[in-house]
Amino acid sequence: MRSIVGDANVLTDPDAMAGYLTDWMGRYHGHADAVIRPRTTAEVADVVGECAAQRIRICVQGGNTGLVGGSVPPPEAPGDDGLILLSTARMTDIDDVDEVGATVGAQAGATIAAIDARAESVGLMFPVDLASRESATAGGVVSTNAGGVRMIRHGNTRAQILGIEAVRADGQVLRRWSPLVKDNVGYDIPGLLAGSEGTLAVITGVLFRLVTAASATVVLVAAHDRVDDAIALIGQAREAGLTVEAAELMTQAGLDLVHEHGTRRPVATPAPYYLLLEVSGAGDPEELVVDLLENGTGIVDAVLEPGPARALWEVRESHTESIARSTTTPVVKLDVSFPIRELPAAVTELEALPGELDFACRPILFGHVGDGNVHVNLLDVPVEHTTEVTDRVFTIVAGHGGSISAEHGIGRAKTAWTHLGRSPVDLAAMRAIKDALDPDGLLNPGVIFG
Ligand code: MLT
Ligand code: ZN
Repeated sequence: MRSIVGDANVLTDPDAMAGYLTDWMGRYHGHADAVIRPRTTAEVADVVGECAAQRIRICVQGGNTGLVGGSVPPPEAPGDDGLILLSTARMTDIDDVDEVGATVGAQAGATIAAIDARAESVGLMFPVDLASRESATAGGVVSTNAGGVRMIRHGNTRAQILGIEAVRADGQVLRRWSPLVKDNVGYDIPGLLAGSEGTLAVITGVLFRLVTAASATVVLVAAHDRVDDAIALIGQAREAGLTVEAAELMTQAGLDLVHEHGTRRPVATPAPYYLLLEVSGAGDPEELVVDLLENGTGIVDAVLEPGPARALWEVRESHTESIARSTTTPVVKLDVSFPIRELPAAVTELEALPGELDFACRPILFGHVGDGNVHVNLLDVPVEHTTEVTDRVFTIVAGHGGSISAEHGIGRAKTAWTHLGRSPVDLAAMRAIKDALDPDGLLNPGVIFG
């Protein structure tokens, strides 16, 4: 490894490795014999080829901002073969933007913020955006098929991929790198690698499509007594001729928590539910928003600001960190989705769940509600009740025809529950793909399949 990436990029000192072996929320801790930090695709290919020859397992890590333990290796177990953590932290190159085709190529370790800044420098926008933008990487968002706050407008990460470069488990480089938007020659391998969580190949580069940002946006936060009214405002905005750029649900409990950690409240009147909407529209969107707020059902208070309205967004984006700082036990974090029509009933059931348990815990729900996505966070759950509470949430999810993973993936956290989202035949097809591309099971062992 030292001869491939250089001495300085093979870490074996426990202190130097520590940050790579724990996720940023401190919920997952793993073991690796070394952390390897390649700079180029050729180096990744040599590292993976060497691991294949010696049957050494590989955990791939981007910005380590994942929330299901997929970017942290498993704990050491007796009899395990060697394992390296392959970090893409040094693979940060971003190509010049193709302004005509509206595409940009990036190495796997380039951050979302850096790719967006490159797009913005030529008046374009990278359509994937999420609160962890300063650390999350191209390879990471593709591996997890991240959703984020702009998914309602532009689709998930898979929808932004035109080409991909990845190192297969045997060390061969697979490069499908074409800006063609119509290109139907066989299987969609870039689409398959999106959401594969590092289990099929090591992504080294991605060719992304870019979009034109809305010329003017308005951000509003509307407080509601009823969750169905909050959700209905999204449809009312569309009916009013506005384009919905983002639609996020928050609750009073979440707002109280972020306020305790220093974020100002968006509106004066407290209410159980808040909808943050970012909208655009031809002409003067602000005028349409004023009408919307006057006529919207069940609005008890509201505020609006021209975009980007960072202070309003901060209320939403500081939820994750405030939760991490408040919970007395590792937060039970379940990223789930529902059909939109089921959302009001599902949210009500999720909020009632703590009252049905034999122990105390605090629920904080928030998320990309326009996509049917709710981030269920249960704070202070006694560790021995984690599985029970997860089962209870997933029972509610299954009862409403939802998904146990909306945008965070399966990682190590949800492997025991994939049967709730996929049939036996479907799971067997996934297993067959894994076995075909990684026959020795060297890539991200324990992720997705357990
Ligand atoms: C978010 O939407 O802020 C992220 O998915 C993080 C989270 O769920 O905590
Ligand atoms: Zn999210």
